[in-house]
Order: sequence, then C-alpha cells, then structure tokens
Amino acid sequence: MTLKISVIGTGYLGATHAACMSSLGFEVIGIDIDAAKIASLSSGTIPFYEPGLQELLQSELKTGRLSFSTDFTAIKDCDVHFICVGTPQVKDGLAADLTYVFASLAAIAPIIKDGSLVVGKSTVPVGTAAKLREQLLAINTNTDLAWNPEFLREGFAVEDTLHPTRLVVGVTNTRAEEILREVYANNLAAQTPWISADLPTSELVKVSANAFLATKISFINAMAEICEAAGGDVTVLAKAIGYDPRIGHRFLQAGIGFGGGCLPKDIRAFMARSEELGAEQALEFLREIDSINTRARTRMIDLVRADLSADLVGKKIAVLGAAFKPDSDDVRDSPALDIAVQIQAAGALVTVHDPKAIANARNRFPALGFSESIEECVAGADLVLHLTEWKVYREIDPAELIKLVAQPKVIDGRNALDRDKWRAAGWDFRALGRSNA
Ligand code: UGA
Repeated sequence: MTLKISVIGTGYLGATHAACMSSLGFEVIGIDIDAAKIASLSSGTIPFYEPGLQELLQSELKTGRLSFSTDFTAIKDCDVHFICVGTPQVKDGLAADLTYVFASLAAIAPIIKDGSLVVGKSTVPVGTAAKLREQLLAINTNTDLAWNPEFLREGFAVEDTLHPTRLVVGVTNTRAEEILREVYANNLAAQTPWISADLPTSELVKVSANAFLATKISFINAMAEICEAAGGDVTVLAKAIGYDPRIGHRFLQAGIGFGGGCLPKDIRAFMARSEELGAEQALEFLREIDSINTRARTRMIDLVRADLSADLVGKKIAVLGAAFKPDSDDVRDSPALDIAVQIQAAGALVTVHDPKAIANARNRFPALGFSESIEECVAGADLVLHLTEWKVYREIDPAELIKLVAQPKVIDGRNALDRDKWRAAGWDFRALGRSNA
C-alpha cells in the first residue's frame, strides 16, 4: 500500500517537499498554522517565487493526492510525518530558535497513529533530534523519529528535492530506515548515494555542509581583498585555482558575499552549539568567515565612496538586485539590500530594481526607492551598482543603458557582468577584487 505522508510547516522547504512527494505518487497533506499560507497553497498559488514550483503545485492539486490544512488532526492516518518548520536565529543571540520544531512535535505526537514515523528535515543544532525522539516516545512508544536533512537550494528547490545529490538519514533502528527507503525508492533506483547515519551525525552533515560552503565563499572574498591590495584580479585567480579538481570552480564567485535564510544563521547557530558542547575552539574560524562576509558589504560601500565621493548626500544611485541571490524573491539577510539601505542612510538617493523581490524588499525597507523597470531605475543615476546576478542584468546592452545615466559609472558587486563589453560601451567599470587596470 502506498504510504500516506504529512508535511508539517509549508514554507519554502515544506511546500516544495509536499508537492514533490505528491508527484512521486504519495498521498500528501501539508499542515501549517498560517491560515493565509494554507489558503494560498490550496488554491494553487505559492506565496513566494520559486521556478517550476507553482506549476508542480497546480498539477499535483489536480490529481487529488495533495491537499493542505490548518487542522492537525488531518494527519492522523499518515504513515510518515516530515517536520519542515523554520529555525531562525534567536533575537538575542547566535543560536537557532527551536520553538517551532518543538511546538510541531508537541502538536502531532498525541495525534499520530501507532507505527508511524516522524522525520525531521529542519536545520537544527546537533542533539535536537535525540531530544525530540525522547519527547515523542514519552507520548507514544509505538512511534519513532528519524532525521533526514535537506540540501535544497532556493532557485533549484524542485530539482534538488526530486534529484538530490545524496540522501542522508539519521536513524536509531532498521525499521525507520526501511520506511525511508520506501519514501525514496525512486532515488535509490536512480543510484542516488544513500548515507545511513546516527542522529547526531545526520544533523551535523547539514550544518557542516553549509559551513563549508560559507567558508568557500569567504575564502574567495578574502582573496579578493588581497587582490585589491596587491593589484590582482580575483576572477582570474578563482578560474585558475578552480581547475584543480580538489578545489573546483563552484562557490568561488567573489563579490558582496552570502546572505539568505540559511548560510548566515546556520554558521552562527553552529558556533553557538559548539560552545554549549565545550568545543568552541573547533569552530572559532567561522567567526572569521562571518566577518569576512560582512566586510565584503563594507568594502562595496568603500568602493562606492572611492568611485563617487566620500560624501554621498544627494548622489543618485541605482541598485540592480534586491534578492539575496538570483531566481529567488527572498530578501532575508540580503547583501544587496543591506548595501542599499546603508548608502541611503549615508544620504544617497537610492532606487532599487529586482525582477522578483521588490514586494518583499519594500515590505522590509519601505523607505527605499523602488522601480519596476531597469531603465527607470538607472535614469539620471550617478552610479549603477550590480548587486544580485540576475540573468536579465547580464543581458543589458551597456551601449543603450549609458544613454540614460547622469554618469557612466558601474560597480559589479557580483563579478558577473562582462567588463570588456561595458568598458567598450564607455562605462567606467569597477568590481570587487579586480584591479582597475
Ligand atoms: C544554501 C545551500 O546551498 C543549500 O545546500 C542548503 O540546503 C540551503 O542553504 C539550506 O540550508 O536550506 P541557499 O540559501 O538557497 O542554499 O543559497 P546558496 O545558493 O547556497 O547561496 C547562498 C549565498 O551565497 C547567496 O547570497 C549567494 O549569492 C552567495 N554566493 C554563492 C556567493 O556569494 N558566491 C558564490 O560563489 C556562491
């Protein structure tokens, strides 16, 4: 008999997971306490931007396999319950806020049927799964809890969920693993690497993967600082070192650094947890990773002042990009918006453009100027900043854009524009980590 699945928490992770599980033929119910979110998903609209997800949601709703509800009792017949709620940074420290994870478990534990399996997917500090399992078993001894970290990237959420690079399961017994093998039978048939681990290791895989990615980005941004000081070019350096297969080219894009709802908060929560474990020295380097990352934003603002004027009051600055990365409307801890806000606070007149994230950006920073069109955004600008590498910005014809600005000055904060092309069109082109020669 086909498994029935519930997904608790229908944010980015949960909504994607629910739609993808349904597309594999499972009957799926997505649960959330946010009635507006559930209403939106039930009507086939995802409340954020993610390529391909809306189409998948709509086609799965039509099959009748996928539904959403705010009523937790709707999950009572399900065999597997995925916990996909958020674990944001706490307001007063570096640690992760686990309120929603524990609240979800408390809500489902008395309802779920005997023999069912709870599977945590949220990113949590190591040790959380064991605690949750203990609490679950205290309420219902005939259930179990496993951990199954998620590695999906925003912008590729559907692809990453359906075709993950690996599947990691944290289990305490073979029965839990068997159930998870049934859930992921398709991937197993496609030879997706399957890693069976204990609970703490499975939790650590997730945070250490994100810590490694953050380290790679900060490494190249540190090299960008050195290149600036020594007159080198970090884009050439990254290309050259990346050909070493032990290093690789990916995540070596120097610029204004990482943001979003995962990497920054995950490395901080990891540091906080290492301290609790008495192993803080092991992750001391992440403090430096974090500070290199925030310094990239400051270096960008320094470059703006060097390029334009120490005094930014009244300068018109066009910002291309608000999302923390392209193909997303997520502005959580967005380096682009952080820079836009800081230069506006310094007196500049800032107009921000983004293909998808304007509504979210305006919501968060209503005092910034926004424009729906690139042309309108740059009209009369003294300086153009390229801060999120959307494809549409790479497709700009610099020879046309130059006709609209007051001064033909551009700074590429993502090292993604074609410098030669912009210079040939008459632009004064600068970028982080590249000498101006
Ligand atoms: C990240 C991880 O890549 C996923 O594997 C993980 O599942 C997810 O966090 C999570 O924990 O849920 P995501 O936050 O979607 O995914 O974004 P990334 O693609 O990792 O990019 C993060 C930031 O790094 C962005 O601001 C991006 O612009 C920046 N970045 C990325 C660089 O500055 N340089 C690079 O070379 C690559």
